[in-house]
Amino acid sequence: MPVLWPFSGRNAALADSKVMDGREETDARAVMPATAPRRVLALANQKGGVGKTTTAINLGTALAAIGEQVLIVDLDPQGNASTGLGIDRKSRRRSTYDVLIGEAGLREAIHETAVPRLHIVPSTMDLSGLELEIAQERDRAYRLRNALAALDYAPAAGVAYSYVLVDCPPSLNLVTVNAMAAANAILVPLQCEFFALEGLSQLLKTVEQVRQTLNPGLTIHGIVLTMFDARNNLSGQVVADVREFMGSKVYDTVIPRNVRVSEAPSYGKPVLVYDLKCVGSEAYLRLATEVIQRERALMGHPAN
Ligand SMILES: Nc1ncnc2c1ncn2[C@@H]1O[C@H](COP(=O)(O)OP(=O)(O)OP(=O)(O)O)[C@@H](O)[C@H]1O
Ligand SMILES: [Mg+2]
Repeated sequence: MPVLWPFSGRNAALADSKVMDGREETDARAVMPATAPRRVLALANQKGGVGKTTTAINLGTALAAIGEQVLIVDLDPQGNASTGLGIDRKSRRRSTYDVLIGEAGLREAIHETAVPRLHIVPSTMDLSGLELEIAQERDRAYRLRNALAALDYAPAAGVAYSYVLVDCPPSLNLVTVNAMAAANAILVPLQCEFFALEGLSQLLKTVEQVRQTLNPGLTIHGIVLTMFDARNNLSGQVVADVREFMGSKVYDTVIPRNVRVSEAPSYGKPVLVYDLKCVGSEAYLRLATEVIQRERALMGHPAN
């Protein structure tokens, strides 16, 4: 459990992120109500390998560093978020599959991680069979939403999470629809590569369908460009194109391609723990600040 973790509280964390940025950040905490409600953000993109899991792990860690209580829900049978946070397969006695099939309560399946204030519900390969098993059930699209309701009835010792980050599989299947039906907003990681925008309109159409049928309050939180390579002209062109197409929905923060980010999961650690000072860690801390600032805007104008 003990890790070398320099963040001891909200103010310390914000101070650190300012130092690491080399620029002043608005203190997002100062403008949030003291008891902000829980927010559920689904990290979704049906394209594989675009940085969903990396963003779930490291945005989650950065939010926890800023003082938020964060729960990651691993909804991918690959279980990469669970492995990347050091939860080995043998210890996953209860998983998202058990929760969604109704054999375990959500709180029973929560694991602590080595990062203070960051918890996870791990997944196993069983999850790949869920869709067939619940296909005929009336509440099949609301399994996650109903399971998350358990967090409202916290036993005295339970943690009151301020952020739930749902790591989706690379598919627009029923599991992803469960995430969208349970979420307040969708966060879309988009890789800086030639086909970045391919598939985005299909994703946005699915979000719109879920909004019209299952979850009227659903919004797009934002699009985060990942694996940006400054030495590659194409990366810059992709950023320009995506900003032109999606406008203010694109976060200012761009996550650079950084070998430390890709090494960290093999040690079962978020990059912020593996190498706090690398450019990948700095970027995820900036993204966390931006996400909190956007929360304020979204909550003020829910139609966005
Ligand atoms: N900023 C980065 N710099 C370098 N490598 C990265 C970065 N972000 C992600 N990667 C690497 O890219 C690969 C894909 O990332 P990741 O697993 O997060 O994508 P994903 O969208 O969750 O994939 P899947 O669709 O399979 O779930 C991983 O090997 C990861 O380590
Ligand atoms: Mg993934």
